[in-house]
Amino acid sequence: MSVSDRTQVAIVGAGPAGLVLAQLLHLEGIDSVVLEARSREYVESRVRAGVLEHGTVELLAELGVGARLHEQGLPHHGFELQFEGARHRIDLSELTGRHITVYGQQEVVKDLIAARVETGRPIHFEVDELSVDELESERPLVRYVRAGEQVELTCDVIAGCDGFHGVCRDSIPDGILTVFSREYLFGWLGILAQAAPSSQELIYAWHERGFSLHSMRSPDITRLYLQCAPDEDIDDWPDERIWDELHARLALDGWTLNEGPILEKGVTGMRSFVVEPMQHGRLFLAGDAAHIVPPTGAKGLNLAVADVRILGAALALWYRDGDETSLESYSQNALRRVWRAEHFSWWMTTMLHRLPGGDRFDAKLQLSQLAYVASSRAAATSLAENYVGHVVTASGR
Ligand code: FAD
Ligand code: PHB
Repeated sequence: MSVSDRTQVAIVGAGPAGLVLAQLLHLEGIDSVVLEARSREYVESRVRAGVLEHGTVELLAELGVGARLHEQGLPHHGFELQFEGARHRIDLSELTGRHITVYGQQEVVKDLIAARVETGRPIHFEVDELSVDELESERPLVRYVRAGEQVELTCDVIAGCDGFHGVCRDSIPDGILTVFSREYLFGWLGILAQAAPSSQELIYAWHERGFSLHSMRSPDITRLYLQCAPDEDIDDWPDERIWDELHARLALDGWTLNEGPILEKGVTGMRSFVVEPMQHGRLFLAGDAAHIVPPTGAKGLNLAVADVRILGAALALWYRDGDETSLESYSQNALRRVWRAEHFSWWMTTMLHRLPGGDRFDAKLQLSQLAYVASSRAAATSLAENYVGHVVTASGR
C-alpha cells in the first residue's frame, strides 16, 4: 500500500540549494515538498562552509532570512596570503567595492529551515529509500518511505539538490551526462576550536609542510584547516599534534596562534567535478549534486545558491507565463558561473598546496605566482574579483 501525494516542485535535499529554492518558490506562490534523508538536528549541526559572497548575503536578505546573518555574520573586507614568513593583505573592498561575510553554513541552514517551517509548507526529514522516476514525462515521480509508509509524490518538476552523494544525478540514464573531474592527492583536516580568532581576517598560508588556513565562526570560535592526505586517519591526529602542526605552518614573527578546546574535527577529500548538462527532462540538478569544487576558493555554497537563484527565476516564469525558454537555458546559464568558480578554485588550490610528487620547480612556480598576486594590483584585483564572486555574462564580455 502506498500513499499518493502531489506538488508542483519536489525538492530532494535540505542543504543550502534545496532550502533556498524552497523559499524562492514560496515567495512566488509555487508549491513544493522538501525531502531530506537526515534528521533536522543532523543537517543543522553539520559544520561546513563559512564564507558567503556579497550576492549570497543579498539574496538571503531578499528571502527574509537575513536577520540573524546581519546580526551575527562577520563582514570581512580583506584576507591575508602568507608565504615565506610574511603576510600580504588582499583588500577585497578596495579592489572590488564588495566584501564577504563569515557566517557558518549550519547557521544559514538553521535560518532557512525555520523560515520553511513558518511557511507551513511541507519539509520532511528522515525520509528513506528515495528514488526518482518518469523524468522524461510531464509527471515525474518521487518515491520514498516516511515513518514506515511508502509515498508516491507526483510533481511537475524535480529539483535534485541532494549533494554529491545523492541519488538524483545517478538516476539520469547512461550516456546523457558528460562528467568532467579532477581528483587531488590531498585533503583538509578541519577543526573548530573554542578560542578567539588569532587574526581579524582569514589567513591562507603556503608552507613547505603543506597548506593551512585560519578562519573563524565568531569572536570566540576559530576554524582551522591543515592540508593532509585524502584518506588521513583522524585517529592519528590527537589534539596536540594538530596544534603543533598549525603552529609550524602559520608561524610568523610577533604573532601567536590562540589555542582552545577542540569542539569538532574531520577530514575532507578534495575534488573538482562538473556534469553537463545540469538537467534531464523534468529533473534539474543544483549545487553539489551537479558540481564540486575544492574548498580553497570558498565557492561551493555560493555556487549552490547561485544555481537555485537561476532555477527559481526560470520556474517562476514558466508557471506565470508558460514560457519555457529560461528553464531550457538553466543549465547553460548556471554553467558559466560554475566553470569560472571551477577554474578559480583549482587555481587557488594548486597555488597554495604542497603538490605530492611535486619538486622544487613546482614550489618555485607557486611562490612566484604568490609574489605576483601580492605585488601587482592587476593580479590582486583578479583574485579579489573571483573571491567575492564574479558573474560571467552570456556574451563573455
Ligand atoms: P549539501 O549541503 O550536500 O545538501 C544536500 C542534502 O541532500 C543533504 O542534506 C543530504 O543529507 C541530502 N540528501 C542526500 N541524499 C539524499 C537522498 N537520497 N534523499 C534525500 N536527501 C538526500 N563552500 C563555500 O561556499 N564556502 C566555504 O567556505 C566552504 N567551505 C567548505 C569547507 C568544507 C570542509 C566542506 C566539506 C565544504 C565547504 N564548502 C564551502 C562547500 C559547501 O559546504 C557545499 O558546496 C554546500 O553544502 C553545497 O550545498 P548543497 O545544498 O548543494 O548540498
Ligand atoms: C571556513 O571558514 O570554513 C572556510 C573559509 C575559507 C575557505 C574554506 C572554508 O576557503
